[in-house]
Amino acid sequence: MKITKICCIGAGYVGGPTMAVIAQKCPDIQVTVVDLNEQRIADWNDPNPENIPIYEPGLSQIVAEARGRNLFFSTDVDKAIDEAQMIFISVNTPTKTYGKGKGMAADLKYIELCARQIARVAKQNKIVVEKSTLPVRTAEAIKSILDNTGNGVQFQILSNPEFLAEGTAVTDLLNPDRILIGGDTTPEGQEAINALVDVYSNWVDVENILTTNVWSSELSKLTANAFLAQRISSINAMSELCEKTGADVNEVAKAIGMDSRIGPKFLKASVGFGGSCFQKDILNLVYIAKSYGLNEVADYWEQVIIMNDHQKRRFSNKIVQTLYNTVADKKIAFLGWAFKKDTNDTRESAAIYVADDLINEQAKISVYDPKVSRNKMLADLNYLESRSEEENGNAVNVFDNAYEACENSHAIAILTEWDEFKTYDWKKVYESMHKPAFIFDGRNILNGKELESIGFVYSNIGS
Ligand code: NAI
Repeated sequence: MKITKICCIGAGYVGGPTMAVIAQKCPDIQVTVVDLNEQRIADWNDPNPENIPIYEPGLSQIVAEARGRNLFFSTDVDKAIDEAQMIFISVNTPTKTYGKGKGMAADLKYIELCARQIARVAKQNKIVVEKSTLPVRTAEAIKSILDNTGNGVQFQILSNPEFLAEGTAVTDLLNPDRILIGGDTTPEGQEAINALVDVYSNWVDVENILTTNVWSSELSKLTANAFLAQRISSINAMSELCEKTGADVNEVAKAIGMDSRIGPKFLKASVGFGGSCFQKDILNLVYIAKSYGLNEVADYWEQVIIMNDHQKRRFSNKIVQTLYNTVADKKIAFLGWAFKKDTNDTRESAAIYVADDLINEQAKISVYDPKVSRNKMLADLNYLESRSEEENGNAVNVFDNAYEACENSHAIAILTEWDEFKTYDWKKVYESMHKPAFIFDGRNILNGKELESIGFVYSNIGS
C-alpha cells in the first residue's frame, strides 16, 4: 500500500518534530498533526515559525519549509483520521496518579480515547501506529477496541517507538541509529510494516530499519530507556563514592568509557536525570515485572529511580549544609530550569525538586533559564502541591538575565548544562554576590580552578 496521507494524534514533543521531519523528507505525503489542545495547535500555526510551542535546534526551519505545503496542524481530529491511511498515536502516556498502579503504571486513558475515536470515525482500512511509549502488549488492547467498536473495517497495529532525545530531536530524526517497526507476522501485518518502511526509507538506509514482532518492539523502547537511565544512576552512584575517597568522577568516567565494551556516552555525573520519559518508563517496567510476579526484576530496575531521587536530594542537602546549615531567607540563584540543555521541556527536571527542598528550608530562589517561562516554573512547583501557589510565587523570582538572577545571591546552583553558562563573565558575577560566594555545579560544566582563583567556593558532583 502506498501511503499518501498521514495523520498524527498528539502535537507534542514527539508528534510535532517527528511529523515535521516526515513531511520535509516525503513531500508526496500529506501530514496532518492534530491535538485537542487548541492553544498548542494555534502555536504550531503561528505565522512566525520561531514561536512554535517546542524549542528544538533546527525545528523552526523545517516547519517553515513544510508547513502549508504538506504539513498541517489542526484541531479537527475526526477529519484527519477519516482522510489518512496511516494514523500515528503520539499522545502522552504519563504515570497513573490514581487507582490501581498509581505512581507506577502508565496511564493509558489518552491512548484508549484515541483508539475509540479512530474506531468510530474510520470508514476504510487503516494502519494504526503506536508512536507513544507503551507497556508491552498494549497493541492487543488497541486492537480489541478497534475491532469491537469499529465499523467493520480492518486495522493493522504497528509499534514504532521513537528514540529521539529532546535537545537533539531534529538531528536524531534525520540520522536515527535505527528505526524500529513491530507488526503482526501475518501477510497483512507484513504489508503494513512494508508501508511504514517505505515512508522511512525516503531518508533512512533500509539496513537501519529493523522490523520485529509487536511485543519485542514495545518492550525494546522501555528497555532502551531503562538501560540509558541505568548508566546515569550508575555513574551518579560512583560520584558519591568519589566524593568520599578523593577520586574524581570525571576521571573515572573517562577511564571506563575508553573501554570499548562500555563506551563513553551517558557517563556524565549530574544532579540527576529528568525528562518526561526515563522515570515514567522505568516505573512502568517495574510495574509490568511485578504484575508477572517477577519481583527480583522489578527491584533491580526500581533501584535506578531510587538512586536518582537520592542524587537530587543529596544536591539540595549539600547546598544547605555548606551554607552553614541554613538557607532561610538566603537568595539562591538557579541557572537553568529545563531538564537538559537545548529544550524548553521541564518535565521531571531536577531543578523542580531541588527548588522544592530549598523552599522548604525557606530559601528564596531566583531563576534564569534561556527558554523556560516563569509560568512554567511555577506550574511545575505547584504541581508538587508542597505548599500554596501564593507561597511558591513569593519564594521564586524569575529573571531574563543571568547576571541579575545572581546579583546579591549567597549561592549559585547550576541545574541545566546550557552552553551559555560557560561563557559568562564570572568575575562580574562574583563581585555582585554575598561572600563567601558559593557555586554548586550540578552539571560539572564550569572550570572549577578558574572560579576558585576568582574567589568562589566551588563544588561539583563527584570530586
Ligand atoms: P506531550 O505531552 O508533549 O504531547 C502529547 C500531546 O497529545 C498533547 O499535546 C496532548 O494534548 C495530546 N493529546 C492527548 N490526548 C489526545 C487525544 N485524545 N486527541 C488528540 N490529542 C491528544 O508528550 P510527548 O513528550 O510528545 O510524548 C508522547 C509520547 O511519546 C509518550 O508516550 C512518550 O513516552 C513518548 N516519547 C517521548 C519522548 C520525548 O522525548 N518526549 C521520546 C520518545 C518517546
